[in-house]
Amino acid sequence: MAKSLGGIDKLKKAAEKCRDCDLYKYATQVVFGEGSAKASLIIVGEQPGNEEDLQGEPFVGPAGAMLKKCLEAAGVPLAEVYLTNAVKHFKFKQAAPGKRRIHDKPNAMQINACHHWLEDEISVIHPKVILALGVTAGKSVLGRNPKISTERGKDLAESDDSPSIYVSWHPSAILRNPDRERADQLRHELIKDLKMIWKKISATER
Ligand code: URA
Repeated sequence: MAKSLGGIDKLKKAAEKCRDCDLYKYATQVVFGEGSAKASLIIVGEQPGNEEDLQGEPFVGPAGAMLKKCLEAAGVPLAEVYLTNAVKHFKFKQAAPGKRRIHDKPNAMQINACHHWLEDEISVIHPKVILALGVTAGKSVLGRNPKISTERGKDLAESDDSPSIYVSWHPSAILRNPDRERADQLRHELIKDLKMIWKKISATER
């Protein structure tokens, strides 16, 4: 039976009232996950950026555009993916009201406070694979800081009952890297990881 979006919609509504850390005071709105409630793949980012905060949807800014290009290059249909973040409010620094809002990394307390929403999303969607992009997402999913360069490409799930867990490069690490050659390498590695994950998911669906 197809899973309905009901569970996710209810979570999203409840998250609008979330006061589990102080980030809600400064962000425009909560940015909950989006995508298919039947998704076999959940992709977890760090936190909404400026654009996501304004639009109320994850991965609609430059990092999202990079991620979507990589998904396309890897042959992963966006319609089969649920996109979300470890932290559901935008954390930023701002020199003065009206000035540009600059992304600020969420701390361990904020990641932990938000973790139950991610757990709820995972238990409603019940994906085959969870892909954490970057260290913050990895920390939320694994409970420890992963080393992306050495741990990408491996199934890091500790139990056979849980979905497979992978880590890979965050699209912002590609966009912000001043070394274009290195940025290209990270992009290729993200695409490679997505291809491998999609092959694994497709094999279990046959
Ligand atoms: N946008 C998101 O929704 N998440 C990120 O991690 C980065 C940009």
